[in-house]
Amino acid sequence: MRIQPVLVEPVWASDDGLSQVFHADALDFMQTLPSDSVDCIWTDPPYLLSNDGTTCVAGKRTTVNKGTWDKSQGLQLDHEFHRSWLAECHRILKPTGTIWVTGTLHVYLSVGMAMLELGYRILNDITWEKPNPPPNLGCRCFTHSTETVLWATKAPKGSRHKYTFNYGEMRQENGGRQMKSVWNILPPGRDEKLFGKHPTQKPLALVDRCLRASTTAGDLVVDPFAGSGVTGIAALRLNRPFIVCENEPEYVDLTIRRLQAECGPSQPQENHGLQDEHPVQRRLLETRGTYVPHCR
Ligand SMILES: C[S@@+](CC[C@H](N)C(=O)[O-])C[C@H]1O[C@@H](n2cnc3c(N)ncnc32)[C@H](O)[C@@H]1O
Repeated sequence: MRIQPVLVEPVWASDDGLSQVFHADALDFMQTLPSDSVDCIWTDPPYLLSNDGTTCVAGKRTTVNKGTWDKSQGLQLDHEFHRSWLAECHRILKPTGTIWVTGTLHVYLSVGMAMLELGYRILNDITWEKPNPPPNLGCRCFTHSTETVLWATKAPKGSRHKYTFNYGEMRQENGGRQMKSVWNILPPGRDEKLFGKHPTQKPLALVDRCLRASTTAGDLVVDPFAGSGVTGIAALRLNRPFIVCENEPEYVDLTIRRLQAECGPSQPQENHGLQDEHPVQRRLLETRGTYVPHCR
């Protein structure tokens, strides 16, 4: 039986309507998108790490718990979760499109396995090296200083569908030598947290390089787990229309504030049909702004 898609409406849209922010569950949201319609998916799914451990933040021991959205349901259910959203990504991705998925050792083995099970072809495993990682407080293993970004296509090897790889631009950026798959990039600085911060916020420079490597202006970029909206901001600055989705009201709010700051003063728009009386959602509707594409 076909599952009826839930009606989800954007809480923010650009003037041309091509770029949108949704406040919804990632699966409900993706079910509203047509098959083979997206050029690039850049996403940072929950690593499902919030299971009462501790970590080090700003030199202090603190809980790893980030919210119920990051809680593990056990190995099997976690793998099913990753399979389910990756299956929807596979459906909506164009045969010429590519997908980028971030992860640490806690998640990328399951994500990578699910990708292979679903028929993705992994093109690269980018190592994002963090120059200044927090110390490992337990002192029972090396300090974690990298994340992996899997880059994949759904087109089989030798397919007539060619994905975009802006080889020349990447080579030029690397001083005329082939760009390697280890990227040394600082975590987000204060300038990326002016409107609030997300506990797992990714640096704009990381998303920016991925999008510049794999898309051209006008390509549609999607992120089903938007967090602070980093994918939307990176896409906006590169003149790529984007559709991003986030479930937690405070992060939807943060995404919208970041987008509004990029684009100057905003005008309230009419309700796109969202009926939810949740106070945060109401505030989102009241403050939702327009954006002027190509404002940078
Ligand atoms: C790892 S964070 C993304 C952080 C983001 N890349 C950034 O730089 O700000 C994952 C996000 O997915 C959201 N999330 C978790 N489960 C979700 C679901 N089922 N549907 C939509 N969003 C979800 C969480 O609220 C969280 O903000």
